[in-house]
Amino acid sequence: MITVTDVSLNFSDRKLFDEVNLQFNNDNCYGVIGANGAGKSTFLKILSGEISPTTGNVSLPAEKRMAVLKQNHYDYEDQTVIDTVIMGHKRLYEIMQEKDAIYMKPDFSDEDGIRAAELEGEFAELNGWEAEPEAMTLLKGLGIPEHLHNQKMSELTGGQHVKALLAQALFGEPDVLLLDEPTNGLDAQSIKWLEEFLINFENTVIVVSHDRHFLNKVCTHMVDVDFGKIKLFVGNYDFWLESSQLASKLAADSNAKKEEKIKELQEFIARFSANASKSKQATSRKKMLDKITLDDIQPSSRRYPFVGFSPEREIGNDLLRVENISKTIDGKKVLDKISFNLGRDDKVAFTSLNDVAITTLFRIIMGEMEPDTGSYQWGVTTSQAYLPKDTSNEFENNNSTILDWLRQYASKEENDNTFLRSFLGRMLFSGEEVLKEVSVLSGGEKVRCMLSKLMLSKANVLVLDDPTNHLDLESITALNNGLIDFKGAILFGSHDHQFIQTLANRIIEITPNGVVDRSETTYDEFLENKDVQNQIKALYA
Ligand SMILES: Nc1ncnc2c1ncn2[C@@H]1O[C@H](COP(=O)(O)OP(=O)(O)OP(=O)(O)O)[C@@H](O)[C@H]1O
Ligand SMILES: [Mg+2]
Repeated sequence: MITVTDVSLNFSDRKLFDEVNLQFNNDNCYGVIGANGAGKSTFLKILSGEISPTTGNVSLPAEKRMAVLKQNHYDYEDQTVIDTVIMGHKRLYEIMQEKDAIYMKPDFSDEDGIRAAELEGEFAELNGWEAEPEAMTLLKGLGIPEHLHNQKMSELTGGQHVKALLAQALFGEPDVLLLDEPTNGLDAQSIKWLEEFLINFENTVIVVSHDRHFLNKVCTHMVDVDFGKIKLFVGNYDFWLESSQLASKLAADSNAKKEEKIKELQEFIARFSANASKSKQATSRKKMLDKITLDDIQPSSRRYPFVGFSPEREIGNDLLRVENISKTIDGKKVLDKISFNLGRDDKVAFTSLNDVAITTLFRIIMGEMEPDTGSYQWGVTTSQAYLPKDTSNEFENNNSTILDWLRQYASKEENDNTFLRSFLGRMLFSGEEVLKEVSVLSGGEKVRCMLSKLMLSKANVLVLDDPTNHLDLESITALNNGLIDFKGAILFGSHDHQFIQTLANRIIEITPNGVVDRSETTYDEFLENKDVQNQIKALYA
């Protein structure tokens, strides 16, 4: 149904990919994978027509509609939820805007009258009067209750954000749904909900994700963006991963004869296809897997960045004291009398059913927002570095190069090109890449830049709001290990279970009625502790 013919894409002198020939068919779910910066979002933009390829073309039958959920979930923060959904039908929304502007005019001319009549005509043709009730039904169906429909997008939790944006994408009843990292910022429950939704969605789905579990659950095919090529594989993520690892092992082992390699691979494929019988496409997948040859499978070229934080000085006795902080945003109480006292060795995971509460708390203690009541005090020996969830402020409309962007955060001793280039090299920005403008960076590249900024700060306290968002698996591992070795204190929020489990020695759950605070605990112990969980349940009730 979507045919990609001879597509290539160059950004100035860099070739992102070429000779891409693929076909996407109905009823399948394609998982697009690849390292941060490989070109996944760009490929999706080519599919949706947002950008044109350097050569080649993409064709979709004329009567078919495509809808997109973009990687940046913060594009509509100032809009109401209901308007955001209606924007999914671009023309309809334009008409509504223009109409409203005319009716708002104090001096309504004859010309305005004629224009308004035209617009009303087109509005009716597009079934405009049904738009709002339809959008509301869609939102309610996705679990966004009516009282939120006229709230701003910025007030929604991560899970609700994605649901509202999904409602926007679904608003025009698309035949093809393109999703760019939809699970970013989603809690386990919302991810499960999205998985079920996609498994039951009958049209074509093309979804970019770094979430291995999610990919295995929903995908029938993998689309790997690597080596400047985009290749389609039958099967889910685990199959792709194991077979590509096997291929690289075999390629490295030059003594093995070609026939032996083929045999080993065929056996592996046979084993895998025998086990893969749970999915709905099991039989056809097995047939396709049986035809795979050694040449079809390539080792992957994924690389690990170097992530290490070394604080300039030790933290004294006091880390952070928070007393009675409350905050109401647009009439909604987000934080209610939050108090806690942190010590120098704390690596605290903040958890909550409402992730807006965590983000708000972090913004307050980082001085970005004033609390309504209450106060906080950092220890005099502390210095903080912050990775916010939404990094638009750093990168949007910013035409500095990566090199100059990072330079502003470097000390005098470290702000020369040689040092910065080698530093960026370890963060996987090599050669001319450091001269790229930061505004064009991919989601994961932006996070790698932010991590570089945090490393250069030499702070002894890190405040991280969902740091694994956007990162590929290699970078998540590198970050995880870097933080385990970190000698300072960490305050963080995360949706990644393993990340919390390996890092936190203290958990603070923020509920609408105060906190549940446990020191010297792992995340699993916290979750398994019945007293703790009962206490949390009571506070949410
Ligand atoms: N206009 C542009 N000019 C130059 N380079 C660009 C431009 N737009 C994107 N790039 C680069 O192209 C590469 C691919 O970007 P893209 O956003 O497609 O990556 P991605 O695979 O989606 O990565 P992520 O997993 O981090 O989201 C990146 O290295 C990015 O910096
Ligand atoms: Mg991307």
